[in-house]
Amino acid sequence: MTDLSQSIAIVTGGASGIGRACVMALNESGARVVFTYHSEEDTAQDIAAKTGAIPVQTDVGDEDAVASLFARCEEEFGTPTLLVNSAGLNMSGTCLVDMELAHFDKVVRTDLYGPFLTCRAFARAAKEGGRIVNISSIHEDAPRAGAVDYDAAKGGLAQLTATLALELAPRRIAVNGVAPGMILTPMNEEAMDDEEVRRKAEANIPWGRAGTPEEVAALVVFLLSPAADYITGATVTIDGALSQVVAPGA
Ligand SMILES: NC(=O)c1ccc[n+]([C@@H]2O[C@H](COP(=O)([O-])OP(=O)(O)OC[C@H]3O[C@@H](n4cnc5c(N)ncnc54)[C@H](O)[C@@H]3O)[C@@H](O)[C@H]2O)c1
Repeated sequence: MTDLSQSIAIVTGGASGIGRACVMALNESGARVVFTYHSEEDTAQDIAAKTGAIPVQTDVGDEDAVASLFARCEEEFGTPTLLVNSAGLNMSGTCLVDMELAHFDKVVRTDLYGPFLTCRAFARAAKEGGRIVNISSIHEDAPRAGAVDYDAAKGGLAQLTATLALELAPRRIAVNGVAPGMILTPMNEEAMDDEEVRRKAEANIPWGRAGTPEEVAALVVFLLSPAADYITGATVTIDGALSQVVAPGA
């Protein structure tokens, strides 16, 4: 098992889905963890009771809230050495012509401004060394009609990750992205609740099934570990080859 017992981690979106699996996996690896939750108070307290991780209610798009999150981590455990950005909102399904600016703003604020604010706070606080993983999506590259909010935010996140990797390499802070395909979390509520919907979606995935949050978390822990020391500026896709399916039958 990866030993992260010398590490202090902040995980955003840690009360649900991929973020929650990351909190659990980091905790199992011995890291001390502070995680954010948004509305999931009971779940957050439950995770805290099971792991000793510290939950902090945070809107990741709010500059002051992110400052308080980092201050809390400093207070409880010290300066964070690892950061996972998993908090995010899904696509609206609304095409651009019908999309209100307020909606676009909300998704971009969470999915792009959020990582901007947390990465900046992390880089400002960090001593020599550290590792960041930004959870993006295969839709950072693959556009869908009705997803201009999400796809634009994730496309921006890919460039944030790449640019930061350049800026922070001299300080030995590694910055990588993880781009999942279909993962069974509350973000895929319909597929979680309805077997028929799930099977239909899974039929498009060459590997024949959706992924689990634990599989993504295992990859995140590897990217945060000393074994991944020379990996920075990379985005690792985890999607059962879904993103390789381009223009079938054309
Ligand atoms: N599930 C998938 O299929 C999938 C695929 C590709 C990428 N992703 C990405 O993985 C990440 C995690 O998603 P998930 O599948 O675990 O979904 P999820 O809905 O289970 O978790 C997302 C979390 O983000 C939190 N959140 C939303 N707005 C917030 C805000 N303003 N401030 C703080 N937290 C906020 C939610 O409360 C929730 O806990 C997201 O960035 C998502 O875009 C998921």
